[in-house]
Amino acid sequence: MAESFLQSKLESSMHSVQDLVIRGEEPPKRYVHKGIVAKSSVPLADVSEIDLSLLSSPTKAGQEELQKLLWALQTWGCFVAINHGFESSFLDKLRELAKQFFALPIEEKSKLSREPDNYQGYGSDLVLSDTQTLDWVDRLYLILTPEDMRKYKFWPENPEAFRETLHEYTKKLESITTVVLRAVAASLKLERNRFLDMYKERAVMVARFNFYPPCPRPDHVLGLKPHADGTTITFLLQDKEVEGLQIMKEDQWFRVPIIPHGLFINIGDLTEIMSNGLLKSPVHRVVTNSERERISIAVFCNPNSDVEVGPVAELIDERRPQLYKRVKDYVNTFFEYYQLGQRPIDAARI
Ligand code: OGA
Ligand code: NI
Repeated sequence: MAESFLQSKLESSMHSVQDLVIRGEEPPKRYVHKGIVAKSSVPLADVSEIDLSLLSSPTKAGQEELQKLLWALQTWGCFVAINHGFESSFLDKLRELAKQFFALPIEEKSKLSREPDNYQGYGSDLVLSDTQTLDWVDRLYLILTPEDMRKYKFWPENPEAFRETLHEYTKKLESITTVVLRAVAASLKLERNRFLDMYKERAVMVARFNFYPPCPRPDHVLGLKPHADGTTITFLLQDKEVEGLQIMKEDQWFRVPIIPHGLFINIGDLTEIMSNGLLKSPVHRVVTNSERERISIAVFCNPNSDVEVGPVAELIDERRPQLYKRVKDYVNTFFEYYQLGQRPIDAARI
């Protein structure tokens, strides 16, 4: 009997990928990309390590680190932060808590299931169209700031330390965001608070805990489709043992290396827009593998939805005209475009 559209829509949004794997099923058609998506030989990206403790230093070493940051953001759109102020044991604990959460029985996690038309909570991503190819990932989405926007009904109480650890992580990431956004502005010879001022009023930080189960068809199924983040910046705490993230440069894919105690940071479309295209919001994707599960924790940093963001005047002149319109509530545009496999930044180009 033909499956109705509604039925398939409900199934794909409510079933977790992990559940499919436990039941030993082949990936349903809706997860399978037409062409081969992942080749086995992909070169490693030479992602720079940036010492955060130097970024606000008025010394020569500080200046050099800003130069390095600028190069990294113009070339790759990302870097690995070191000396970020987190103990390795803290980052390990956070990864371990994420792992423990995803290891809970489906019934337990389902108590935190997202509602059908909202992205917050546990489950798979929203299915917005019949033709959308689905991602091989289960995720838990939680708003972190402003704190009055948190919906604690989606915050795990099991494992027990989850909430307080995530809160502590949030607090520290808030200060790192300030350091990084100031440095990004300084690296472009702008006043240090130039980007931060556009961002800081009731900024929205959202965590996305990703769980990628092993996949029997890694050549045709992606953990996450190619996309660039719709953010100002994104923090990604990667799995310590299992690779999966790939980043695009000049139409070629590169593997992002694992640096266990580093914190991977990429800029998103909003920083590309604010910098009038001088900095690149990198396209990236996650590939699957047939052997091992992978966990990652992304934190997306955005201005509040009522804040308008656009290219700064200092970076616009006759030789470099304004390339993007001013945008507002970009996150919502992002989801629509992402699920269609398109880039929201194309809608912002002049
Ligand atoms: C994301 C993302 C990468 C990863 O969540 O937007 O790109 O390695 N995640 O999970
Ligand atoms: Ni991403």
